[in-house]
Amino acid sequence: MKVLILGSNGNLGTQLLQVFNDRNQVLGLDSYNTDFFDLKKLKNKINSYLPDVVINAVAYNNVDKCETDAEVKVLAEHLNILLPKFLAELCLENNYLLISYSSDYVFGQENRDFPYSEWDIPNPVNYYGLTKAKGEEHVIKLGLLGLKHYLIRTSKLFGPQGKSSFTKKSFFDIMIEVSKKQAEIKVVDEEISSFTYTPDLAKYTNYLISQNYPFGIYHLINKGQATWAQAAQALFKVLKIGITIIPVSGQEFPRPAPRPKYSLLENTKMKPLPYWKQSLENYLKKYYL
Ligand SMILES: NC(=O)c1ccc[n+]([C@@H]2O[C@H](COP(=O)([O-])OP(=O)(O)OC[C@H]3O[C@@H](n4cnc5c(N)ncnc54)[C@H](OP(=O)(O)O)[C@@H]3O)[C@@H](O)[C@H]2O)c1
Repeated sequence: MKVLILGSNGNLGTQLLQVFNDRNQVLGLDSYNTDFFDLKKLKNKINSYLPDVVINAVAYNNVDKCETDAEVKVLAEHLNILLPKFLAELCLENNYLLISYSSDYVFGQENRDFPYSEWDIPNPVNYYGLTKAKGEEHVIKLGLLGLKHYLIRTSKLFGPQGKSSFTKKSFFDIMIEVSKKQAEIKVVDEEISSFTYTPDLAKYTNYLISQNYPFGIYHLINKGQATWAQAAQALFKVLKIGITIIPVSGQEFPRPAPRPKYSLLENTKMKPLPYWKQSLENYLKKYYL
């Protein structure tokens, strides 16, 4: 199978590259070798490779900058809305299979305490979530016209940091850094959702394709749920670091973009990914212990 991965130096993209390299012919497009803003050149590049599968791991992910900075809004609109739209059109036209990633942040407006299924209607609380929801719409719309696609929603990614200068450190890496300087850390005890280990997500993306699951929306998240504070407690327990985690409300850390209080995704369509604490342990054993 010929696989093309956009954003191959990103946090998820790096893992996708490793998983798909195993048995396929893979081309990685990253922000160093490709201009994701020049869609004409991108079209030629993709079509000259003639892929069977196009995997889009590109996104603008800085939630707070998206909310306040006009220039960043334009950037986010391009990467999160126009690029998925362009890829959906290109893939439909050429019969390529499209894998597109979205976020639990397309949800959260309702005062809700039970998980969002693949059939729930997006209701984002911030601008980043809105761009991801609009990006989804194009893929879903063209899906109705015959686009072969898997639209994968995921949440709270963690894992080894990608090589691209655009990537962010994951929550766990940041907590470990902070723990070297502080004896106690205040952590927000809100925003219930699922943590997801990027190597698991890459592996299960491959599984979707190889097992020929029906096209459509999938929620690929590690099993279980946690707030940020609960996740920090689990992290330091595994690392056996005796640091004090002080759970606080979101109001103690005001940020420009509102966050969903609850955006847990439910995976009703595919075999479950491992429990997040197990995957966290795997990550820590491989990179920290
Ligand atoms: N991070 C999370 O917690 C989270 C949660 C839910 C959903 N998601 C979704 O999961 C997918 C993968 O996320 P990720 O965290 O792996 O993404 P990431 O590492 O933050 O970024 C993905 C890639 O997008 C490209 N990119 C970003 N900003 C750019 C810019 N200004 N100009 C050019 N290229 C730019 C870069 O490509 P190169 O690598 O090619 O340089 C970057 O590595 C995305 O669709 C995201 O929305 C993420």
